[in-house]
Amino acid sequence: MPLPEIVPPYPVIQAALRLRGRLLDLVDRMLPAEGALWDLTAGLQRAKLAGALVDSGLADALGEGWQRVDELARELELEPQVTFRVLRAAAAARLVRLRGERARLSRIGAPLARSHSASIASWASYLAAPANARGYEQLTAQLAAGAEPSGHRRAFGDSIWEYLAEHPAQEARFAAAMREMTAIDVPALARAYPWPDSGVICDVAGGIGTLLAAILARRPAARGILLDAPEVLAQAEAFLAARGLAGQVERRPGNLFGELDARAELYILKWILHDWSDAACVGILRRLRASMPSGSRVLVIDQHQEPTVPSPITSMVDLHMLVECEGGRERSPAEVHELMREAGLQPGPVRHAGLHMLVEGRAP
Ligand SMILES: C[S@@+](CC[C@H](N)C(=O)[O-])C[C@H]1O[C@@H](n2cnc3c(N)ncnc32)[C@H](O)[C@@H]1O
Repeated sequence: MPLPEIVPPYPVIQAALRLRGRLLDLVDRMLPAEGALWDLTAGLQRAKLAGALVDSGLADALGEGWQRVDELARELELEPQVTFRVLRAAAAARLVRLRGERARLSRIGAPLARSHSASIASWASYLAAPANARGYEQLTAQLAAGAEPSGHRRAFGDSIWEYLAEHPAQEARFAAAMREMTAIDVPALARAYPWPDSGVICDVAGGIGTLLAAILARRPAARGILLDAPEVLAQAEAFLAARGLAGQVERRPGNLFGELDARAELYILKWILHDWSDAACVGILRRLRASMPSGSRVLVIDQHQEPTVPSPITSMVDLHMLVECEGGRERSPAEVHELMREAGLQPGPVRHAGLHMLVEGRAP
């Protein structure tokens, strides 16, 4: 059954995820605890399987219709026996359905195909890449020594951003993953906030401009400023031009830790503060505050993590921030409001879109 077009309210999503957890607990009672635990410890293997299905081209070639495995292997120049065993394991992981010698993607495996309307193929490929696994190897060290340096820095000696700048293949996976997830979230985000019909909206570290493009598409009188690193802005050029927005969006190089020079009515920080420690976030907000006209607003968009409420998606994103980013974490609206106060901003209303919170602040 397809998911409803309208995203349910945040408390309903939380309740549904809690119920799913309870049902999984109930079903797992059919197994001895160590059996269910064994299945949980196979998470690395499932992540690697998903990545291999994407990177080998199998996910795209499989699609949702039944295909002969030997023919697929021949078509993609893969070793047939290994292809069959990988697909059998993927079937055990519920990513694939296997019927004799034929296979197809399952309902939850289907978004591994790039043609799927809500594909997260690039995320699966990014997460399974060796660079990520090396960051996670440092989790035990982080447990003993604290969040900083991140697992990534412990493994590679640089920040994830420096690493991505020097590793174009992984950077391309990451950028594509951000694009596809933003594209999934954009319809709900576009509905969740009363975006201004005119004036300037600045997306700070806005990637290639996916969210800005969705907001401006229906607001011809509004203009955008897209602020990011020069190499990201270079990718944004074609994206914005293809949507007829090249003249409506100014691409401006900016550094979260340098000068943030842009005058706008509304500033967006989507998936930015969760990359950084509280101290770094206060610094970013202070620098932004310095260029914000009085009365202008900032909108912080991240997933909503209440300190003592585990969430199967958000708490895993939080773990990823712990491993990959210096002091990165998911926060609650109250925690974001506290960062805003420290930066001299007035905390404002909180809205939700799916698992995301949209926390507003105002320059006094
Ligand atoms: C997690 S991505 C979020 C991108 C976008 N806001 C979105 O929601 O898709 C983080 C962004 O921060 C940018 N970034 C990282 N460090 C930065 C810095 N020092 N100055 C400016 N941008 C930076 C990256 O280029 C990337 O586009």
